[in-house]
Amino acid sequence: MGARNTASGYGWVSRLLHWVMALAILGMIGLGTVISRMEPSFANLWLFGLHKSIGISLLFAALLRLVWHRVSPPPAPLTDRIPVWQQRAARLVHRTMYLLLFIVPVTGWVASAATGIDVVLFGRITLPAIVPPSERLDQTFFAAHSILTKILAGLVVLHVAGALHRHMVHHDHSLRRMIFG
Ligand code: HEM
Ligand code: HEM
Repeated sequence: MGARNTASGYGWVSRLLHWVMALAILGMIGLGTVISRMEPSFANLWLFGLHKSIGISLLFAALLRLVWHRVSPPPAPLTDRIPVWQQRAARLVHRTMYLLLFIVPVTGWVASAATGIDVVLFGRITLPAIVPPSERLDQTFFAAHSILTKILAGLVVLHVAGALHRHMVHHDHSLRRMIFG
């Protein structure tokens, strides 16, 4: 299987993006939960920096994924062995997760910028402060970030359950083609 998607299979670019982003997002949900329970100090500031750096990288990865799917459209969903309601549910979950792959990092970025502290990518590139310091924005957007990440985690659970169900109960090729192309 080459780099591009075909009418029936995923090329390696889409598969790589899917699995690297999946791993990173699961790690980020864990890391986010850990830092949100910490009192920020000089000793743990690097963990906040790491979360922000990976989060912004994930925003770029989501953009890349969107662009790549315009350049090389993904294969049509497999429908032959799946009830219509499950096809609709899968599409809805994919679309909502896609949307959250953009909104979650943006809410984190806005909230962080609103604290007045620079967002620095891996200690090297200082990102523009996309909003001025504001306690109201800081609180609102951290609350949104927190709720949206919980919704994303819930959708990932549904998505994984659906993928395993299709593989083990309906024996279709969706999981195989996402792994092997
Ligand atoms: C896909 C990307 C991201 C995921 C999955 C994610 C996930 C999370 C989660 C689960 C939490 C804990 C929320 C809570 O329990 O209240 C959190 C907190 C946090 N996130 Fe993110 N995040 C992402 C991107 C970002 C970005 C891009 C930034 C900033 C540039 C950011 C900044 C923060 C900060 C500073 C906290 C701690 C908030 C606090 O002190 O309560 N996140 N994140
Ligand atoms: C944070 C974790 C994950 C996210 C955000 C995510 C997101 C997505 C999205 C948006 C799609 C739609 C196709 C695309 O745009 O690439 C997709 C497809 C797929 N995902 Fe995931 N995924 C995650 C984890 C997983 C895991 C752990 C599994 C395996 C158990 C899995 C199995 C699949 C399969 C089999 C497809 C292809 C469905 C088809 O061919 O119709 N995903 N995923």
